[in-house]
Amino acid sequence: MKSVFLTTFGCQMNKADSELSLGLLLERGYRMARDEATADVILFNTCSVRQHAEDRVYSRLSQLKAHKARRPGLVIGVLGCMAQKEGEEIFRRYPHVDMVCGTRMFDKLPELLERLRYNGGYLLAVSDEKVLSYPRQRPPRENPYQAFVTVMRGCDNYCSYCIVPYVRGSEISRPVKEIVAEAESLVHEGCKEIILLGQNINTYGKNLEKHTDLASLLRAVSKIKGLERIRFVTSHPNDMTRNVLEAMAELPKVCKHLHMPAQSGSDRILERMERGHTAQHYLELVELARKQVPDIAIASDFIVGFPGETEEDFEDTVRLMETARFQNAYIFKYSPRPGTKAAELPDNVPVEVKKERNQRLLDVQSRISLEENMKRIGQVVEVLVEGTSKSNKRRLTGRTSHNQIVVFDPPQVDSDLRGKSVKIKVAEVTSLTLFGQLIT
Ligand code: SAH
Ligand code: SF4
Ligand code: F3S
Repeated sequence: MKSVFLTTFGCQMNKADSELSLGLLLERGYRMARDEATADVILFNTCSVRQHAEDRVYSRLSQLKAHKARRPGLVIGVLGCMAQKEGEEIFRRYPHVDMVCGTRMFDKLPELLERLRYNGGYLLAVSDEKVLSYPRQRPPRENPYQAFVTVMRGCDNYCSYCIVPYVRGSEISRPVKEIVAEAESLVHEGCKEIILLGQNINTYGKNLEKHTDLASLLRAVSKIKGLERIRFVTSHPNDMTRNVLEAMAELPKVCKHLHMPAQSGSDRILERMERGHTAQHYLELVELARKQVPDIAIASDFIVGFPGETEEDFEDTVRLMETARFQNAYIFKYSPRPGTKAAELPDNVPVEVKKERNQRLLDVQSRISLEENMKRIGQVVEVLVEGTSKSNKRRLTGRTSHNQIVVFDPPQVDSDLRGKSVKIKVAEVTSLTLFGQLIT
């Protein structure tokens, strides 16, 4: 029996793809290796979104060279976004890699590995036309009460800085029935929370034969008995509809949490990013969301140091952040991606300035997050328990509907509350975490 060790880089879609890949391999009799040293097959599911993400994979691949020399039978495979983007270039730079398998091919992974076993040599599989099929089996998850379900693949948006449409291909939605069936089987196995995944999930259903939309999908998944929570990511401001906000307000299982990246607060930069919205439009959407879904938590992404970003542009971003008052925000330093439109513009904001803007924006957001969290002191929040807290194994942790992490003491030392919903009275907060007491 061959053993496999897979490391995942990148976003939640990659984590979902890794689960599907492992599921397929387990179905074919592979087992999961404890570590790289003992694995027969080492796989990396990779990310290309920023140079830093690629560098991390390249450094891991370099480390494996000596390992492979000692164990020639070892199979090393690169999967996912970098595989799609770099193709055979990976073999040229790292001749000890055996297989490069793109983002639309990993349902073929068992066959590819089989072929390698018999034929040896290099195997490149990066066709991008294919519609992927989804296997039934999944590997055991660290948190069995929560699972990703991919509802669509690819992206047609072509924001000027972004590599995703190039590495993930054009948008394809899965039929509602198929998604509901997968979610049902997960719930049957004990899962309580489903996270629906799409790069631009608000356009879900657009290209399906039987036209549908995200709001209808949320309604269909909501009907599953035993399912407690539904989340969905990521929302693009241009495609966000009143319909979806109505469904969020009306369906109790849908978490009151919206991840809707703004990217910048400067209209000049937003235009260069080809986002298709202005800062004003974005802020109006935030206002509408808060009106339609009271107590909704909104999270955002920002890129600092985009080509041509001046101090004034950056100030506009700070202003948007101050006005929108996000629950949390992810901030990235612009990284030119060869092949994208923005990569043709000079990357003219110095690294130091990018770093400094990154830190300033982080500081503003941390302050806002703390101020918002302080308003929760004394409130009772519902928490789906995930396990023990990383920093203190005697305490338990879980998440609220708003996707906030809550840490609390168990009623007894060994009480197993995993997968249960409990009520916690918030007593203390930081910018990232709520602490409180269990209410029985
Ligand atoms: N589909 C999602 C996520 C895309 S990638 C969305 O549209 O929101 C996640 C985040 O990475 C983006 O929101 C953006 O903020 C950031 N990002 C994408 N390309 C980048 C680049 N070239 N440099 C720096 N950050 C980037
Ligand atoms: Fe990239 Fe834009 Fe598509 Fe998001 S919507 S994946 S940022 S191109
Ligand atoms: Fe990275 Fe690919 Fe996701 S580029 S962010 S792993 S879609």
